[in-house]
Amino acid sequence: MSTNNLRFMRLLITAGPTHEPIDAVRFLSNRSSGRLGVALANVAARQGCEVTLLLGPGNCVPSFGPHVQVERFVTTAELESLLAKHWPERADLLIMTAAVADYRAAHPLPSGKIPRTGGRMMLELEATPDLVANCALRKLAGQRVIGFALESPENLERRACEKLDKKGLDAVVANPLETMDSETIRGMLIWADGRRCNPPATEMTKEDFAEWLVDQVIKRSSDK
Ligand code: CTP
Repeated sequence: MSTNNLRFMRLLITAGPTHEPIDAVRFLSNRSSGRLGVALANVAARQGCEVTLLLGPGNCVPSFGPHVQVERFVTTAELESLLAKHWPERADLLIMTAAVADYRAAHPLPSGKIPRTGGRMMLELEATPDLVANCALRKLAGQRVIGFALESPENLERRACEKLDKKGLDAVVANPLETMDSETIRGMLIWADGRRCNPPATEMTKEDFAEWLVDQVIKRSSDK
């Protein structure tokens, strides 16, 4: 594949978990490492894309080449603001690998720590907005939005197709729950027209999967 196809493509990639504060020291989160999104950013930049990576919290700070601009977020609300800044004006394609929280504390304590009182305590949660669905709604002609669906293996394909439809995505990567925080991924790409693309091996490193996925996206863009 010629790098010319991608030279002027602007990719917006989100990666990693969100942290939703409960008080000044505690948060709700998940086990996402952000590794696949980081790999996608590096592969796409090597192929000639202009890449903006919106990267969530985590202990490891990956290194990037000069063609990857990184902006950090912690909460879903911060990721929502960054997406509003970049999408749809500053990117052609959004790849949403971030493991966004579905719920956050309705009344987080802004400073200090909730004291331990013993016994049970209730934590009121509120739903977060569906960020990728909102981006799909704001999409302009020629733009594409690719989401991820993390599901238990027995429901994987059915639930991924439901998310593709419900969120108005152009494609979804269906991957089983074990993918989260793992070195490897067993993923499959499903396009809105029903076409299914399987990678060359059932289980791949996230770096190899990223190479394959970027290649699929390029092929599809040159089909247009
Ligand atoms: N997503 C999002 N905003 C949310 C939740 C999820 O943008 N508040 C995006 C994720 O980045 C991913 C896609 O939606 O690209 C699917 O995420 P997933 O966790 O598989 O599904 P959910 O919509 O969260 O539904 P459920 O948790 O019931 O599986």
